Amino acid sequence: MKVLVATEKPFSGVAVKGIKEVFDAAGYEVVMLEKYTEKSQLLDAVKDVDAMIIRSDKVDAEVLDAAKQLKIVVRAGAGYDNIDLAAATAHNVVAMNTPGQNENANSVAELVFGLLVFGVRNFFNGTSGTELKGKKLGILAFGNVGRNVARIAKGFGMDIAAYDAYCPAEAIEAAGVKAAKSQEELFETCDIVSLHIPATPETKQSINYDLVGKMKKGGILVNTARKEVIDEAGLIKLMEERQDLKYLTDIKPDADAEFAKFEGRYFATPKKMGAQTAEANVNAGIAAANQIVGFLRDGITKFQVNK
Ligand code: 3PG
Repeated sequence: MKVLVATEKPFSGVAVKGIKEVFDAAGYEVVMLEKYTEKSQLLDAVKDVDAMIIRSDKVDAEVLDAAKQLKIVVRAGAGYDNIDLAAATAHNVVAMNTPGQNENANSVAELVFGLLVFGVRNFFNGTSGTELKGKKLGILAFGNVGRNVARIAKGFGMDIAAYDAYCPAEAIEAAGVKAAKSQEELFETCDIVSLHIPATPETKQSINYDLVGKMKKGGILVNTARKEVIDEAGLIKLMEERQDLKYLTDIKPDADAEFAKFEGRYFATPKKMGAQTAEANVNAGIAAANQIVGFLRDGITKFQVNK
């Protein structure tokens, strides 16, 4: 069996070592395609592989057409909006993610607070900022990342609320977090809102002018989820009208140049950094490798997302 690890944004060295050990033990060959810049490189690399591990790398119908031997693609991480699931099914390719890998979620959650401290201290520009203690944090979607954000926020002494369309209020309250009745209520009542929703047809562009416009004076929106959930034109219009709002994001918007005019109120990491820690890479990367061996050797489809 031949496995391709296709990562435009490479895993840490220690994660690659761990992934290779899993495949060595199974007797599989591993090929690496890291930091590729052209889609043609990916199309070439997938030609003769049986399995592949990806991160946010796009696997669309063209990639699947080129991957004649491919049986399984595993997205090392949580969000799998980068895989064309219908095309994978049509090509008889099993698609999986690696859910429930806590380090992957924790690393994103820690970055939320890196962005927040940077934001409330005015991007370290020498002026007096504010503290997170006592501020109300709204967590939009209470999955693994949202739960880790809540855990860390408790250490900061924040007042914490969450809303999740798919998670009952009792489960949120059981984690010691106030359950908001709607996402509108979350935006209305919180000083800071942190997004942890996946990019789906329902959520795309759902964080819009009206919703963010409900935030109190001095509101901060943090996005470590996906750029697609933001209505960029709406948010730009709102930030033009409201000089008090800040937008901090780990995913550069398409309209980065336009957002950049909000100096001191907008920050985007140069490259998506949420899951870019050694711990997260080891966690998600080795889980992906084990899932590939589990599928190819034993037919285990537990984390298949294109059923
Ligand atoms: C995820 O969905 O797991 C995170 O967004 C991480 O994405 P990345 O692999 O591009 O860092």
